Amino acid sequence: MTQFNQLEAWVMSTYQRLERLDVPVFDTTIEREVLPLQESYEMAQLKMLSTDLPAECMSISDYLQGKHSVNSTLNDTSAKLSLLFRYLASPMRYEPFNENPVHKAVPSARCMYPLTFIMIVNDNNKPQAYKYCPDFHALQVIDAPFSTDDTHSKNSVSILCIGNIWKAAEKYGEFGHFPCVLESGHAFSQLHLLLGMLDWKATSSDFDIHTGHQFCHSVVDTPLFSVGIDVGENFSSSVEDILNINQLRHVTVRLPTVLENKGLAERFDRLGNMQSIFSAGEFLSPVADSRNNTLENLRVGAKGLLDTLRSRQSGNDRSGMSPVVQNLPTDQLEQILNLFNALRARRGVCAEEELLSFNFAWLADSGAQPGLYDEFGTSLAVDISAQELKQKIQNILPYKMMRYNTSAMTLVCFITTEPLDAIHDLGESAFRNMHISAGAAAQDLSVAAASLGMFSRPVRMMREERVEQALPVKGHVLYQVLCGFNRRHNLTFEVL
Ligand SMILES: Cc1cc2nc3c(=O)[nH]c(=O)nc-3n(C[C@H](O)[C@H](O)[C@H](O)COP(=O)(O)O)c2cc1C
Repeated sequence: MTQFNQLEAWVMSTYQRLERLDVPVFDTTIEREVLPLQESYEMAQLKMLSTDLPAECMSISDYLQGKHSVNSTLNDTSAKLSLLFRYLASPMRYEPFNENPVHKAVPSARCMYPLTFIMIVNDNNKPQAYKYCPDFHALQVIDAPFSTDDTHSKNSVSILCIGNIWKAAEKYGEFGHFPCVLESGHAFSQLHLLLGMLDWKATSSDFDIHTGHQFCHSVVDTPLFSVGIDVGENFSSSVEDILNINQLRHVTVRLPTVLENKGLAERFDRLGNMQSIFSAGEFLSPVADSRNNTLENLRVGAKGLLDTLRSRQSGNDRSGMSPVVQNLPTDQLEQILNLFNALRARRGVCAEEELLSFNFAWLADSGAQPGLYDEFGTSLAVDISAQELKQKIQNILPYKMMRYNTSAMTLVCFITTEPLDAIHDLGESAFRNMHISAGAAAQDLSVAAASLGMFSRPVRMMREERVEQALPVKGHVLYQVLCGFNRRHNLTFEVL
């Protein structure tokens, strides 16, 4: 196995990945066989979550101000649990003519959905685990492969996220961890947003990365984060009762599953080393207390929060995006940035995320002056014309055929960090946790964009060295989000 350390992994993940890493989907020189995943089934006991859910429960402005939902359906905790998983991981839109037809509220590179969510309910020191089954919208009863001890609270609820890297690695090979871990950041942010909306406080989890490893079945399964939930009772009754889990309809089904192809780590030499780097250290620290915002100058206030989450999309138009030119209000960029900052403050940001920098390139001819800005809308002096800026951004697109109409491009956000500072501050956890943090911030930007009717496409596979060469963005580009308005001519059905 090739040996390398965190910093070397950082270098390999830059544009150098094209030469240094074995990634079947980047290899345009030879025909590569991408093995399909093996299909199987298992008999499983499921507890079905209700699909009879409210379409809306509060406006964005009520959410940002920390108000409580008035929707009476949500007095039932099992309905809250159902809503939580629906907007975290269940199929939401079906686009039959799209290259990737199934879409969730949280984006996933090529719609591979490589994350597993496990809820651990610890009742009087008796832990019980439930794996969320998105296709059935149900909780599968699974064994908790550990017992609790003095280090655990007697009663608690946590959501653990595991990255099934093997799902992505057939296509992304030695780069497989990157899209999965970034995606988990989107889920991390969405989970906190949903908890805030449901009036369930996120707390530090009782279960650390070592517990996470015990739920991993493959050598490239990676525990990514765990978030505790304060379900708002004093645990005088059992946690299962508080969550109404025993009231859920119980069924035994033949559950289809996909399995890892054997020999993956042997076929992709650096995958094992990437796994050690991505699974080292400790989970992200808990988020700082979320902040209720005083909302000034926000135009979107009245829009529904759930409606916004359902309308988030990456502008997919079969193989890319097809943006359209819009004449925008003069404060469009200001609105996006205000919302982005307000959403982050409301969900609460963890210490790791503070090590990120954000640069926004505004490209549209209306909505703000074309140019480069920080997240507070301060213009960063760049000595180039609007036309040159657009040209430079166009150059970051990975291939000429990408259907991204740059003349209609609105906004690109570059999320960066300084690897040496991150390693210095976070030690061996830096690599995983900075990628999760970048994904979390990208999710907030996506929600902000959706509330203003824009698509937001998170991208990892761009020519970011061209950004670094051309624009004064600091550090290493971990992730980018492209936002704009698109023509939606794909047939779309809402699921559930
Ligand atoms: C971690 C991650 C990396 C992605 N990288 C790219 C990319 O490099 N290029 C691209 O065109 N889309 C990229 N996407 C966008 C996804 O392909 C898109 O989200 C997916 O098609 C699902 O569509 P939806 O978000 O509209 O549901 C990425 C998404 C994620 C979550």
